[in-house]
Amino acid sequence: MRIVLFGPPGSGKGTQASLLKDKYKAAHISTGDTLREAVANQTEVGLRAKGYMEKGELVPDEVVIAIAKDKLASVGESGFILDGFPRTIAQAEALDVALAEIGRPLDSVVNLRVDDEELVKRLSGRRVCPSCGEPYHVDTKVPKVEDKCDKCGGDLIHRADDQAEAIRNRLKVYNNQTAPVLGYYDGKGILKNIDAVGQIAEIQNRIAEALGL
Ligand code: AP5
Repeated sequence: MRIVLFGPPGSGKGTQASLLKDKYKAAHISTGDTLREAVANQTEVGLRAKGYMEKGELVPDEVVIAIAKDKLASVGESGFILDGFPRTIAQAEALDVALAEIGRPLDSVVNLRVDDEELVKRLSGRRVCPSCGEPYHVDTKVPKVEDKCDKCGGDLIHRADDQAEAIRNRLKVYNNQTAPVLGYYDGKGILKNIDAVGQIAEIQNRIAEALGL
């Protein structure tokens, strides 16, 4: 499995990636999770990315391309699920070059389609585990123990960019800068559009079917 999970903020990329990686033994590469870790550790990359992330703006291409290449180099021969990368045409082109160099092109790009009203509901009710990245929701994916991660026991948080103003900006940024990447992959014939509204398990089945798994 060598795929990109694509879609607007809150479309369920992290949720579905977490299920796919366990089921199909693929590496989960989330540029968002890697950047949040860098911010928490106050690394050079983190200090540079923090302001962009809090406002819901994209972090500069050269920073995220370097992160994605580094992560891809570390997965070896196993499959991978890219979550939140690429988000610009420049990133998509850089990814193609990097994968061509290692002779492991993408199989598919899975586009999770969700309307804006549902996205706002999902993001404003989301809670996340900062330790392992697992996403939860106050209504639709409640942890077994209040505010604790089911997977690693970490304390759940409300992300700074899940506040109303940042959510609005992230949706605008997605429409202006990221949605055009869909045309890039459609042109290559590897784009699979998925209706991503419904139960999490149901959407997982739709993805598996689209990928022929
Ligand atoms: P990132 O962390 O990638 O955020 P995002 O793309 O905005 O995506 P989200 O994590 O918000 O949503 P998701 O689609 O993973 O949804 P989830 O599964 O959590 O990026 C954060 C920031 O980092 C960016 O704004 C940017 O600054 C920077 N960045 C990252 N990558 C970059 C790049 N390549 N280039 C430049 N900058 C970059 O689900 C959301 C909620 O909905 C959860 O609560 C979940 O439980 C719930 N949910 C999921 N599925 C369902 C369902 N079927 N029904 C009901 N609820 C559901």
